[in-house]
Amino acid sequence: MAPSVFQRLSRIVRSNREDTNIRSNPNSLNNRQTTQYVFHPGESEADRLNRQYNFTKRILHRTTALPRSISPNTVSSVMDVGAGTLVWTLDLLQTTQPRPKRVYACDISAAQFPPREEVESMGITILEHDATERFPPELHG
Ligand SMILES: C[S@@+](CC[C@H](N)C(=O)[O-])C[C@H]1O[C@@H](n2cnc3c(N)ncnc32)[C@H](O)[C@@H]1O
Repeated sequence: MAPSVFQRLSRIVRSNREDTNIRSNPNSLNNRQTTQYVFHPGESEADRLNRQYNFTKRILHRTTALPRSISPNTVSSVMDVGAGTLVWTLDLLQTTQPRPKRVYACDISAAQFPPREEVESMGITILEHDATERFPPELHG
């Protein structure tokens, strides 16, 4: 049986556990030196975010990442803004049919992202970007 999204995430997060300090994080996409997020990135914060997502989904009686009011047939491009560990994006890919054609995830800090090669192999484009700033022109439209 294929591993669940949470099993997969736990494995990815474990493999990423050395990347607890954004100042020396080699996965950081553009070596930003600061983040405005109040919690320290790392395994325990990643675990907290993943549990929080799972808990929220349960209390909202959701079986998929998309709310029932949104039909997957109408969604071709998606961006998870403030993606953290990408827990929502990964759940989206596991629970949504048809899958959106273009899937992006951005966060002001890449410190909690799973390794880029894992993410890209799933067809997710990640970017370290402050959502209060203009997005790159290739993402407009
Ligand atoms: C409470 S976490 C939620 C993470 C994820 N969406 C989840 O459900 O687990 C908030 C996230 O927003 C990110 N964030 C805060 N300010 C941001 C900004 N201006 N632009 C992009 N991401 C931001 C933080 O780095 C953090 O990962």
